[in-house]
Amino acid sequence: MTQYSFPDNFLWGAATSATQTEGSIAHDGKSDNIWDFWFKQCPNKFHDGVGPTVTSDFYQQYHNDIQLMRKLNFNSFRTSLSWSRLMPDGENINPQAVDFYNDVIDDLLLAGIEPIINLFHFDMPMHLQNKGGWENPSIIEAFSHYAQTAFELFGDRVKRFTTFNEPIVPVEMGYLNTYHYPAVVDMKRAVTVAYHSMLASAKAIEAFKELNTDGEIGIILNLTPSYPRSERKEDQQAAHIADLFYNRSFLDPSVYGYYPKDLIDLLDQYQLLPERVDGDEALLKANTVDFLGVNYYQPRRVKHRDEPIDETILTPESFFSYYQDPQRRMNPYRGWEIYERGLYDIAMRIKAEYNNIPWYVSENGMGVSAEERFMNDEGMIEDDYRIEFYQEHLKWLHLAIDEGANCFGFHTWTFIDNWSWLNAYKNRYGFYRLDLTTQERSLKKSGLWYSDVAKRNGFSY
Ligand code: NOJ
Repeated sequence: MTQYSFPDNFLWGAATSATQTEGSIAHDGKSDNIWDFWFKQCPNKFHDGVGPTVTSDFYQQYHNDIQLMRKLNFNSFRTSLSWSRLMPDGENINPQAVDFYNDVIDDLLLAGIEPIINLFHFDMPMHLQNKGGWENPSIIEAFSHYAQTAFELFGDRVKRFTTFNEPIVPVEMGYLNTYHYPAVVDMKRAVTVAYHSMLASAKAIEAFKELNTDGEIGIILNLTPSYPRSERKEDQQAAHIADLFYNRSFLDPSVYGYYPKDLIDLLDQYQLLPERVDGDEALLKANTVDFLGVNYYQPRRVKHRDEPIDETILTPESFFSYYQDPQRRMNPYRGWEIYERGLYDIAMRIKAEYNNIPWYVSENGMGVSAEERFMNDEGMIEDDYRIEFYQEHLKWLHLAIDEGANCFGFHTWTFIDNWSWLNAYKNRYGFYRLDLTTQERSLKKSGLWYSDVAKRNGFSY
């Protein structure tokens, strides 16, 4: 048995988002976001027809849930604010939302749990989406106004804010494939969405810095190491392009304040560069992040694309292909690859190429479908697979920290089974099982295990 101990003050906790847990979508002045709207339009798109309406009802049950987090010895928890709850018309602040978020933050602090507050997690208010959402440059000002409002309201107690969670996802899912609203396939629009999100993040950081608080501001990115199929130059180049699109398009401007030249050249070659205005470059350069959150689930396995590029329907995958590595290990209950070493590779890359900026694992987790099959006679889900999944990732993270990685915490996805966009409750990720009918929460075996890890600041294995 080896003892894996983590640095002092290491963050242990879990992450989630407003839309995935709050429910109460029509209560106390909240306006619709794209998910509320889409669910009303086409409920059948959502697994089992379950939308964001109820979820685990955090809006009503936060007090109880925070007590449950405390039982797991969390010292930190990340969720997001719902923009459409806090500023339903984009201008005026909703006092009921302020009360709710104040209560959540105060309750967390009282329980000894640091709140990490994220501002945007896939949930564009519908009235802004109707004006083009991230495509319309006016969104940059609107977002920074919302961000500044949040900093002023909650910054006295929240010491870590993040501007975005996985900003590439609305780009990819909303504008390159059709999993998120507005569900179009248009690379030029996708690039504009990405660019405006990045500028909005920088503008929010500028507002944060002007307030001169003692807090820090970061961004949460889903980093997917891109491993080439072979050492062949063509496969290496394919992996490089996948990395440019899916990692460096947000990582470089967030940490360095500018885009990779190769990305700009490639976009330019295909007339995909977004409209830029004077001042953009300076804004990005001056407003880089204090820290990174890294969501890690699985890598990309990439090879050279043999087919010619069809310029009438460009996507990032016009420039590379995926391949199935016969050696890879799959999560048998969800179909994603499990490759724990990927987390170590990310850590070492941040150390070598991104100034060893402070970062934490802001999401890592294992989704499991039909998880009730693992319930024992006492009603507990015996999710040993999840314990093993976390142990193996934490082993690699531990090694990275030993080798100098500047990682200050580990958050799982997630605390309680939550609603996952189109998949709704198909894949469960929580330490607590949620019974959707009764709203009952029951602790899984992994939750017990994690409470011990958090308490001892490590584990033996
Ligand atoms: C990433 C996202 O941040 C979250 O919203 C999602 O549900 C999880 N990964 C699981 O796929």
